[in-house]
Amino acid sequence: MSHADDHVGTRRDFLYYATAGAGTVAAGAAAWTLVNQMNPSADVQALASIQVDVSGVAEGTQLTVKWLGKPVFIRRRTAEEIEAARAVDVSELIDPSAQNANDPTAPATDENRTLDEAGEWLVQIGVCTHLGCVPIGDGAGDFGGWFCPCHGSHYDTAGRIRRGPAPQNLHIPVAEFLDDTTIKLG
Ligand code: FES
Repeated sequence: MSHADDHVGTRRDFLYYATAGAGTVAAGAAAWTLVNQMNPSADVQALASIQVDVSGVAEGTQLTVKWLGKPVFIRRRTAEEIEAARAVDVSELIDPSAQNANDPTAPATDENRTLDEAGEWLVQIGVCTHLGCVPIGDGAGDFGGWFCPCHGSHYDTAGRIRRGPAPQNLHIPVAEFLDDTTIKLG
């Protein structure tokens, strides 16, 4: 399977989960089931790391890829999104940890969550830290980032939890740029 094959149709999948996951605590479990159903084949799952071509990701859009059975959001942020995220003081945040697997003890500044210094690229596990639904992106929610409709968790443009029952910021996986257009997950 090519990487391109692994990435197609994610927008549709993503909307499907969001709809299926809306409503109740039980729906959170249902969303996980759907995520599991979307798992790549066993041989692909066995890959601890994948490379993602992000050359087609325009500013202000998000690519969702599947990795180790979970959706991963790769967002190329606008200048406005970066500015909004960097204007927030960590003391205002519900979760003070960056939740970044690349730097587990880092505080939740925007700079500690983005993949590049300029803050254009934000890579996150697309699973709500409350009960595991897949949040809606593209500026959703009261803080312009992501919104989880299951129980109303609002994440900001850095993917940090700002309102609602989710206890932690969206998790950031081990990731790095291999070159200007290729991100390696894992
Ligand atoms: S799963 Fe409950 S708010 Fe996201």
